[in-house]
Amino acid sequence: MPLIRLKRTGFLMTDTPTTPPTVTAALARVDETHYRGTDKRAVRQTTPASVIERHLPLLDIQEGMRVLEIGTGSGYSTALLAELAGPRGTVVSVDVEADLITRATGLHHQAGYTTITSLTGDGYTGAPDHAPFDRLVAWTTPPHLPTAWVEQVRPGGIILAPLVCAPIAYSTAMARVTVANDHTPGPITLSRGQYVPMTTPALNRSRYATVSRVIDGERSPSYISAPWLTATEDQDLAEAVFTRMLNAAHTEPVDIGWPEIEHFKLWTIAHKPAGLTMAQRGKETMVGITTTDNAGFVALFPNTRLVADSATSPALEYVRALIQEWKEHGRPTIDTLGAHTTPTHQGWTLMLDPNPRNTV
Ligand SMILES: C[S@@+](CC[C@H](N)C(=O)[O-])C[C@H]1O[C@@H](n2cnc3c(N)ncnc32)[C@H](O)[C@@H]1O
Repeated sequence: MPLIRLKRTGFLMTDTPTTPPTVTAALARVDETHYRGTDKRAVRQTTPASVIERHLPLLDIQEGMRVLEIGTGSGYSTALLAELAGPRGTVVSVDVEADLITRATGLHHQAGYTTITSLTGDGYTGAPDHAPFDRLVAWTTPPHLPTAWVEQVRPGGIILAPLVCAPIAYSTAMARVTVANDHTPGPITLSRGQYVPMTTPALNRSRYATVSRVIDGERSPSYISAPWLTATEDQDLAEAVFTRMLNAAHTEPVDIGWPEIEHFKLWTIAHKPAGLTMAQRGKETMVGITTTDNAGFVALFPNTRLVADSATSPALEYVRALIQEWKEHGRPTIDTLGAHTTPTHQGWTLMLDPNPRNTV
């Protein structure tokens, strides 16, 4: 199979922004334990503080801003947004689950916040009665960038949201989109980020997986997701490839750790290699290559390694070559990749560009 050959370019090797003092101060002022359950454990929907801390600086919230949050969850991130927007700012937070909104409203009241409005509803449609906003942040993944969000944020404002970046499972990137004067998506920068898919009553959710079935009860789901399998519409072939992935017997170590392996995954998605496949085998998530008669993957999580149907599998060779290619280009991180959007019927789809940002 032909490999992608790219020009060598210089890359910035980090996607972790330094935390500005305003964010550090907000993190210090909000008591995260206040937003936990009565047993003092985090509620199921809570985003880990370390993840919020990594993403908040990208929003660049200033005093007095109007902020829309999609996905209230525990309410912890809402409190941080209210701290950043200050007493002259406002935060509108929407969650599809009414009991979470009731809970968060009570907790914000106890903590003395007066600038937060918590609403039950489908965040896919934003909060039109409270628009316009300077900033919109989503902690849940929509099927695409909704038109409503781009319309409700003022030109020059910023949307930070996890967006699906390929018609394949587990392919989300955190996109920071500046809204253009004509209320279309303007410049985009990317970072790594994975949030739960939105429950969108407004839409039928897009299907990711060609074959998706539970093999070992609810705790151990497995699937395979590959555009080439979707295109064949051959269920017997899909089943055969799926079974080959499940039974892959060969494993070998790979010298890429976490979170670097996430960058390799997104770089691979951007290059759209023939046979690109995303898979889950029990607790293991994988990116790799499948063909009609062989399969090779990088196991991304929880333990990075190569997995293949046999030690001599051509697909394994291909995956090894992709890794080599990625290393030769300086192990590029997601923030160095370019991105653009294409219109869909109710919004925009994010596409990753194989060429690095600003060097196209
Ligand atoms: C990862 S949690 C958010 C965690 C939150 N940032 C915190 O600090 O606890 C994602 C949330 O998105 C909510 N959600 C899912 N679909 C939604 C939708 N269509 N509209 C609004 N919220 C949605 C879920 O109910 C869940 O509370």
